[in-house]
Amino acid sequence: MAEERVALISGANRGIGEAIARCLGDAGWRLSLGMREPQLPDWADPDRVQVVVYDANDIGAEVEWTADALAKFGRIDAIIANAGIMIPKNVIEADDSDLDAMLAVNVKAPRRLAAAGWDALANSGRGRVIILGSLSGKRVKSAAASLYSVSKFAAVALAHGIRHTGWDLGIRATAVCPGFVATDMARSLTSREDRLMTDPTDIARIIAMLLDLPNEASVAEFTINCQLEESY
Ligand SMILES: NC(=O)c1ccc[n+]([C@@H]2O[C@H](COP(=O)([O-])OP(=O)(O)OC[C@H]3O[C@@H](n4cnc5c(N)ncnc54)[C@H](OP(=O)(O)O)[C@@H]3O)[C@@H](O)[C@H]2O)c1
Repeated sequence: MAEERVALISGANRGIGEAIARCLGDAGWRLSLGMREPQLPDWADPDRVQVVVYDANDIGAEVEWTADALAKFGRIDAIIANAGIMIPKNVIEADDSDLDAMLAVNVKAPRRLAAAGWDALANSGRGRVIILGSLSGKRVKSAAASLYSVSKFAAVALAHGIRHTGWDLGIRATAVCPGFVATDMARSLTSREDRLMTDPTDIARIIAMLLDLPNEASVAEFTINCQLEESY
């Protein structure tokens, strides 16, 4: 039953992660929210929503988080690896520390989080992993977005890797790939008005739908446009 399912969401304090948390909470999911500075959302019932300290750069944090979620709820049915960073540098001006920083949060941490929750996801019988990719994980739009693209192409590949690895365990993975979404991240990159960007609540609705699909209706990649794209 959907009411019994438990989802972990990283970066759930603001932006897309906050919208996902509210949407899944409204849909009856029990939630474990990972945040660098944990604060229970004002809409949340503490019996159904847990907030934990989670810094994607803290190796081992994912093990404590999944253990806390299992201790409170006894199961994990979905992991939404949403926390991410964008360093707007091209692949020539950037140095290794820029690339390392993005790979650490956008790729390595989601992989560790999925691995930490793996057995619980398998026990669910319909475990789900959502990786927040990006259209920048599908095409390289500009020089300024190119280093970010390197990390997001890897994030999309990670979702496919999880999908292959988890298939026989009933685990399904999706790379969700939006263009501009009206959050702090996009606002720092473009002067485009919020109304011309995808609303985070629409990303949340899409993810709720993806999580509800049965094992036999798996979606590997879901791309979302706020403007005309050549493809995707
Ligand atoms: N907005 C867009 O246009 C867009 C488009 C495509 C894909 N995405 C992807 O969607 C995801 C969410 O983006 P957003 O737009 O909501 O970004 P945002 O508004 O900048 O929020 C980023 C979230 O990630 C968290 N975070 C960053 N570094 C972290 C770390 N080391 N450990 C734990 N949490 C960390 C932030 O927490 P703090 O509050 O503690 O910083 C915040 O909750 C990202 O993966 C992003 O790459 C965004």
